[in-house]
Amino acid sequence: MKMVLLELLNKVHFTFDDIKNLLSFRSKEDIDMLRDFAYQVMKQNVGETVYLRGLIEFSNICINDCYYCGIRKSNHKVKRYTLDKEEIYEAAKWCAEQGFGSLVLQSGERNDEQFIDFVEDIIIKIKLSTKSEKLPSGLGITLCVGEQTKETYQRFFNAGAHRYLLRIETSSPVLFKKIHPDFQLYERRMEALKNLKEIGFQVGTGIMIGIPGQTIDDLANDILFFKKMDIDMLGMGPYIIHSDTPMNVYYQEYTERKREIYELALKVIAVTRIVLKDVNIASTTALQAMYPMGREAGLMFGANVIMPMLTPTHVRNDYQLYNGKPCIDEFTSDCFECVQQRIESTGRKVGKDEYGDSRHYFNNRHLNEYGYLLSPE
Ligand code: 5AD
Ligand code: FES
Repeated sequence: MKMVLLELLNKVHFTFDDIKNLLSFRSKEDIDMLRDFAYQVMKQNVGETVYLRGLIEFSNICINDCYYCGIRKSNHKVKRYTLDKEEIYEAAKWCAEQGFGSLVLQSGERNDEQFIDFVEDIIIKIKLSTKSEKLPSGLGITLCVGEQTKETYQRFFNAGAHRYLLRIETSSPVLFKKIHPDFQLYERRMEALKNLKEIGFQVGTGIMIGIPGQTIDDLANDILFFKKMDIDMLGMGPYIIHSDTPMNVYYQEYTERKREIYELALKVIAVTRIVLKDVNIASTTALQAMYPMGREAGLMFGANVIMPMLTPTHVRNDYQLYNGKPCIDEFTSDCFECVQQRIESTGRKVGKDEYGDSRHYFNNRHLNEYGYLLSPE
């Protein structure tokens, strides 16, 4: 068995069946082997350093109504907020001073002009105000504000954001339709991902693992989808139930499958690392929400990015995408040293004052005569 497994792991090109077989490993021995192999692939392709992005959830107002999401527009129990610009600048400054190097600006989705101006403005100001000897171009900025027009993405890019996260949630159009209302279109999400790439962002996507009805075939297709889309960064985590959403009807199934979903999520991270090799993969908060040491486990399965929560504590409670979000009550403004200690306890180094950009992005693109990055066509 071990030989068969090793042969499979060592392949250069992975077929749908190979990926499915890897995801189907079940015994502890096999999963340990998968984890260790993924770790080696990570070490060889992107190194062992863990890069940090401070996460600021600056607004929970959203025009979308995803059936799984706690801050969907139809959840009227949520108190809506948008942080003041000043408060965002304070958090960003703190992030830079602490040594995080990069930040993620995340919010619910809005596409009105006022919102677009707001986001553009905060990117420009954060870039300017966080310039220092350690960070000559200011903090690295990753945006996560949903589907926008190509013109809007271009504005955000010009303002100084250089990475963008937009999860496909599932690459299966059928499953996508089951977990989103009719006005949210799979095709539009795909279009948005293509536009982001054309503009030149480092593009991140991702999925939820353990969505009711999702099969191993779906997950194998998701991994092939990341490859086909030439994705630079990934954020993947377990689906976690939220009691005030239409998907709360799956509560029983969810509690019964919790352990299995958690393990499956770790396996998906490992197999994605083995197949995609030089991308950045985040160990997500959702893993930590399921099990306190979940994020550290993700790092052992091949992830190399962590996004510590820097959202001001007075609004953290109002940004709950799922039940059991960690760090909402305590004042765990994940300071750099605390995060560093936790990560170093797993034997990894932390990238201080570094962007930690996706190697894949640079491996796959070259500069044109003007010094702009081109994607290989
Ligand atoms: N469980 C897990 N992840 C969730 N997200 C939203 N709701 C949930 C949930 N209930 C994830 C989605 C989204 C990201 C910001 O958070 O994948 O893209
Ligand atoms: Fe908008 Fe979740 S439905 S952020």
